[in-house]
Amino acid sequence: MRGSFIKLSSRALISFISVMSLWGCAPLSGADASLAASKTQVRLGVVLYNAADPFVVNICDSISRYAAEEEEASNIKIIIDILDSKNDQTLQNHQIDQLIKQKYDAIAVNIVDRAEAANIIDKVKEAKIPTVFFNREPVPQDMNKWNEVYYIGSNAAESGEMQGQILLNAIEKGERFDRNRDGVIQYVMLEGEPGHQDSILRSYHSIKLLEDAGIKTENLAMDTAMWKRGEAKGKILDWMDQFGERIEVVISNNDEMALGAIEALQAKGYFDNNKTIPVIGVDGLDQALQAIKQDKMLGTVLNNADEQGKAIFGKLYSLGAGVQSRVVLDYSADEKYLWIPHKIITKETIN
Ligand code: GAL
Repeated sequence: MRGSFIKLSSRALISFISVMSLWGCAPLSGADASLAASKTQVRLGVVLYNAADPFVVNICDSISRYAAEEEEASNIKIIIDILDSKNDQTLQNHQIDQLIKQKYDAIAVNIVDRAEAANIIDKVKEAKIPTVFFNREPVPQDMNKWNEVYYIGSNAAESGEMQGQILLNAIEKGERFDRNRDGVIQYVMLEGEPGHQDSILRSYHSIKLLEDAGIKTENLAMDTAMWKRGEAKGKILDWMDQFGERIEVVISNNDEMALGAIEALQAKGYFDNNKTIPVIGVDGLDQALQAIKQDKMLGTVLNNADEQGKAIFGKLYSLGAGVQSRVVLDYSADEKYLWIPHKIITKETIN
């Protein structure tokens, strides 16, 4: 039966975790509670849009860790299947069909194509399997199709604003990014996947924050590098050939692409002999923190994978097992959404 699943083997990606356990958002009472209390095992499915994405791997790592902790502290066996959809919606649909067919108790979906959410929600609703979407947010019309559909993530507009704030703080402290002194910051923007809420809102709000604060900006180039380091490196090399020193700031929708930008800039002689340029990302990946410490990156915005994974596991477990998970989260959540706050990371704030 499990053979039909694509299994992940990396340390971070457990395909099958057999632990024992209990967070919760929907405590049960009366008959439901005694039914739930009698469960000795819970089966949870997690589908990842792409296990080659380092940020998503971090979330997955966290889900696994909290599942193991929960199991150790309780007497319910936890089975989690974590499946890699390899950026292929058809494959993901198939994986979800399998989880439904095998009557998993709850499913977490990192959807490949947000436009597919309605279809998935129809299916899980019919099968009555509560479902938690994460990281890639379905539109509200789809989320409202069923009351047992939830979303856990971070507010995309907030991360964009914080990117703008990192630049603004540095300018207010006297950094002179306006190299050609024309009173305008010329920037390039590396974007994530087209249509992803984080691409659209980070690009918009990072610049809006600066403009609202009275900083004039000019976009020299902006294109998708699909969240990927290699693609970002290629784009920046092209833009350096095209615009050279006119580029005063590099804003990236995530750290992976920011790191690709840094590789390209380094190849063009930056970060040596005091030749520098501000690069700003989002996620808070370890390598980005290193780059900040080495003055190759001005800052990033923490997209808290650990807390997101914790919340996803807790919700999933509570829904699947019907008992409150031990995971405790200090965030306000409404019935369907839970938002994990972002945080600015710069050299001063890294300890
Ligand atoms: C974003 C994250 C990106 C990428 C994307 C995948 O939140 O910043 O690095 O992982 O999710 O959906």
